[in-house]
Amino acid sequence: MASVKGYLMHLLVQIFIFVFMWKVVALKTLGSLCPDRCNCSQRFSSGLKAKVLTVNCSYQNLKNAPLGIPSKTQSLFLSGNRFLDLFNKLPELPQLMELDLSNNNIKRLGRGTIFQNFSRLKVLDLSNNKFKTLFNGVFRGIHRLERLTIANGNLKFIDERVFEGMKILRYLNLKNNQIHSIAPEWFLDMINLEILEIDHNEISYISSGTFSSLANLLNLSLTNNQIRGMSDNAFVGLHKLKSIFLGNNYIQHVPSAPVQSLKKLKLLNLDSNPIPLLYTRDFVNLSVVELSVSNSTSLTLIDEGAFWDLPSLESIHLQNNYHLQFIDPEAFIKVPNLRFLNLSNNNISAISQNIVKQRTNVQISLSGNPLLCDCNLRWIKEALDNSSTVVFIESDNLLCKQPEEVSNTRLQDLDLGNMPVQCAPVLVGPVNQTVEKTIGEFHIFECRAFGNPSPSVYWVLPSGKMLNDTTNDIHIQMKQPESFVIFHLKPNDSGVYSCVAENVLGQAVGAIRLLVDSIDINIFPQRVSSTFVTVVWNGTARNTYPEYDLLYRIEGEKTDRYETVTVSYIFRSYTINNLQPETTYKICIAVKDDEGENLKLSCTHVKTQDANFIMQGIQTTSNVAIAVVLGIISGMVIIICFVSVAARKYRQRHYETPQKSLISNMAHGTPPENVSSLIVTRTEPCLEQD
Ligand SMILES: *[C@@H]1O[C@H](CO)[C@@H](O)[C@H](O)[C@H]1NC(C)=O
Ligand SMILES: *[C@@H]1O[C@H](CO)[C@@H](O)[C@H](O)[C@H]1NC(C)=O
Ligand SMILES: *[C@@H]1O[C@H](CO)[C@@H](O)[C@H](O)[C@H]1NC(C)=O
Ligand SMILES: *[C@@H]1O[C@H](CO)[C@@H](O)[C@H](O)[C@H]1NC(C)=O
Ligand SMILES: *[C@@H]1O[C@H](CO)[C@@H](O)[C@H](O)[C@H]1NC(C)=O
Repeated sequence: MASVKGYLMHLLVQIFIFVFMWKVVALKTLGSLCPDRCNCSQRFSSGLKAKVLTVNCSYQNLKNAPLGIPSKTQSLFLSGNRFLDLFNKLPELPQLMELDLSNNNIKRLGRGTIFQNFSRLKVLDLSNNKFKTLFNGVFRGIHRLERLTIANGNLKFIDERVFEGMKILRYLNLKNNQIHSIAPEWFLDMINLEILEIDHNEISYISSGTFSSLANLLNLSLTNNQIRGMSDNAFVGLHKLKSIFLGNNYIQHVPSAPVQSLKKLKLLNLDSNPIPLLYTRDFVNLSVVELSVSNSTSLTLIDEGAFWDLPSLESIHLQNNYHLQFIDPEAFIKVPNLRFLNLSNNNISAISQNIVKQRTNVQISLSGNPLLCDCNLRWIKEALDNSSTVVFIESDNLLCKQPEEVSNTRLQDLDLGNMPVQCAPVLVGPVNQTVEKTIGEFHIFECRAFGNPSPSVYWVLPSGKMLNDTTNDIHIQMKQPESFVIFHLKPNDSGVYSCVAENVLGQAVGAIRLLVDSIDINIFPQRVSSTFVTVVWNGTARNTYPEYDLLYRIEGEKTDRYETVTVSYIFRSYTINNLQPETTYKICIAVKDDEGENLKLSCTHVKTQDANFIMQGIQTTSNVAIAVVLGIISGMVIIICFVSVAARKYRQRHYETPQKSLISNMAHGTPPENVSSLIVTRTEPCLEQD
């Protein structure tokens, strides 16, 4: 018995000594004990690029940092816990260089200096949390930060001086938040920033000088935002930027001017943007090696010289643009080093041999396009047959769609001898469709043609006239024979515009039916005296425009000049004074288009009474019935207004009706005898209330 007891005692002592020794060893190596639920080890940190004492307490349902985290901890992982905030939740760790607080429920970081005890911190990850705001001062004290990641959160607002003092920050990741504008002040101290990721946010505009402090930035990602526009100086100061990603935004034209300041740019990516056309000199004088405009559902045409003077350019990615139909034979001017042109999966039926003129060692992918295997593709067939220095890669996927007799045949399986040398024109571009526009907008008409001999292309206007340089219409501008613009569209621009391509072998015609929607606004005279006319109008209740112009002049006068009065959209009538007796006036309601030109929406002719006329009751030269109906409506409106105003007064004594200012506006200049008109005008805006 005794020996068993003694043995057990001995064993216990041994276990005790072992545990004690192990703890001493652990203490020696780790500096202290490893807390429950954490894992402590020397581990290589990719963020710090060194082997460091790492305490990993991830995914433990923690609401606080556990007690007993070794004070010498260099890397602390608290990811995937249940932290709601960080106020007094973290121990003092003077050696800490890396802190991961991602995947928590942190709802606020507050206005304090919660990280000030971590003066050696180099890497901080706050991704996948719930806080919306970064207030000034939150990062105060951590001047040695090199990498800051706040991705996949709810971040909406960042104070201007939040990142103050972050002079050695090299990497900043703010992707996948709800940031809607970028403040230049954020970056003032980030003179060493190399990578900036603000993709997957809600940024809509890039202002002038936004990144001007980031002289060492190499890589900027702004993909998946809502960028519609940017200042010409949006990218000034990015002296070293090598790559910029602007994909998946709402950019409608290549930002040619802004990218001019990027002197070291090697890669420009504009994928998945609604860019309908690449125009001449859209990409000009850049040092880029690689350009990408892919995955756009809007891109249809690439114009002559769209790529111009790009001496370093080697690769152009223009794939998966399902509506891209045409690349101008001279699209690439002064692009001597082009090696790879990806045109796969577009809607291209042919490309011109001029594209590869004087080029050697070029690889082109045309796979997945609906090829037109007639005279237009003979040269490609030859290039496939002979070992040409222009190589069409993935040639198994060069499938003919037309002409019908070779549909679904591989181009390489055709017999060159059966391919015609000349063929009639085939039209491409946005033709054979209906285009709907609103009054005042513009439309660009485009069409192109394939064929050999090279077809001549022209447009025929709805009037049947051929459009050419001599066309005398100030609101039509011809860009090339194949392309013109109509500015300030009017309803009577509606009609069928035909594009015609001709060569010796035939003709091809395509049509665009243009519908210009007028706004259904009608103006009528309501009261006519010898010296004034009150006009009323309807149709403005939809608030399409903020204001309208009333234009009037004596009918039959030679000049085109009208007197003008501007009225707010809430007006429904107006009295024009100081008219001449017994004179016919033309009175129109109009809007200003983008260029400030007046577009008349509705006009009426009114003859003023003779000088002896004294107005009694309602008189109109036309549309008596309408005036009566309007009168009845006005009466009802007076009652409704009266009741509602009374009700409001009752509810709130000091309520000042917004109509008051209007009434005085309207009353201004109204002749004294025109009392009933004044009542009508006063009540009409009531229709718009609430
Ligand atoms: C920390 O622990 C979690 C879960 O125990 C593990 O998934 C993760 O990879 C660890 N992280 C590091 C940096 O060791
Ligand atoms: C390709 O080879 C054919 C003969 O096989 C020749 O007639 C033709 O001129 C060659 N084309 C080119 C571009 O070298
Ligand atoms: C331009 O069009 C007008 C009218 O259609 C036509 O008479 C004229 O000959 C054309 N001019 C040219 C240079 O084609
Ligand atoms: C446009 O429609 C006309 C008439 O239907 C047709 O002949 C022509 O091929 C079409 N053109 C294009 C480019 O679709
Ligand atoms: C305006 O009045 C005219 C004539 O009574 C009528 O044809 C038109 O539909 C009205 N428009 C609206 C928008 O009420």
